[in-house]
Amino acid sequence: MTQTAAAPPRHVAIIMDGNGRWAEARGQSRSEGHLAGAEPVRVILKAAHRLGVRFLTLYAFSTENWARSTQEVDNLFSLLTRYLDSETAELLASGVRLRGMGNLERLPPQARLALTQAEEMTAHNEDLTLSLALSYGSRAELTQAARELAQKAASGQLDPQTIDESSLAQAMWSRHLPEVDLLIRTGGDKRVSNFLLWQLAYAELYFTDTLWPDFGEADFLAAIADFQGRQRRFGRV
Ligand code: IPE
Ligand code: IPE
Ligand code: MG
Repeated sequence: MTQTAAAPPRHVAIIMDGNGRWAEARGQSRSEGHLAGAEPVRVILKAAHRLGVRFLTLYAFSTENWARSTQEVDNLFSLLTRYLDSETAELLASGVRLRGMGNLERLPPQARLALTQAEEMTAHNEDLTLSLALSYGSRAELTQAARELAQKAASGQLDPQTIDESSLAQAMWSRHLPEVDLLIRTGGDKRVSNFLLWQLAYAELYFTDTLWPDFGEADFLAAIADFQGRQRRFGRV
């Protein structure tokens, strides 16, 4: 594959969709699809790191996903706990900083603990920040940010006149992230499903029919190359 000269995206966000359909197509349970979805996370993280992507943000569990069966939800969080327990040493060694993002108080205690430990262990890494959106919904994020600013204003700590885009962004779960450059959604659907509505304002969008468990390095490189061929105007001419 020829290397293009354009810079890689600084921040890539991915809606990892299609695990259930991948499993159903094989006569397997949805859980097996989620299990198979862990491998592309490893592969894409490595590829992103190698390409010089600084921020990789993965939509792992949405606010709305709480409405799935208890069995599926429990399974997803036990997979997350296992992923964190088995990968944190590797993340630490490879310079990756891990961060959770969302209403993390709702997470089952074990998953919450594994996440906190991984965050603490990797807190000094700076090469790439891997953010896991967990119990994440963009509307919930914006709502809690508004509440936080309103509380500060009500208690006299904040002058409402000084609220600007940056102070709102700083009250959000994603405060540690720059704007998204490239959003990838696997699984064939062309929607954002309550993911990073604010942060996507000028992102390039890339949709692929490939189901998440089948999404490999070549697919990721194709998305990056597509991004590098685009002209971003940010409202200018
Ligand atoms: C994405 O795969 C993973 C999560 C939402 C947790 P899905 O579970 O949504 O898979 P499909 O869309 O049903 O195939
Ligand atoms: C989006 O996928 C959420 C995650 C990938 C975690 P969904 O499968 O939940 O989205 P919809 O329901 O198809 O919009
Ligand atoms: Mg889905």
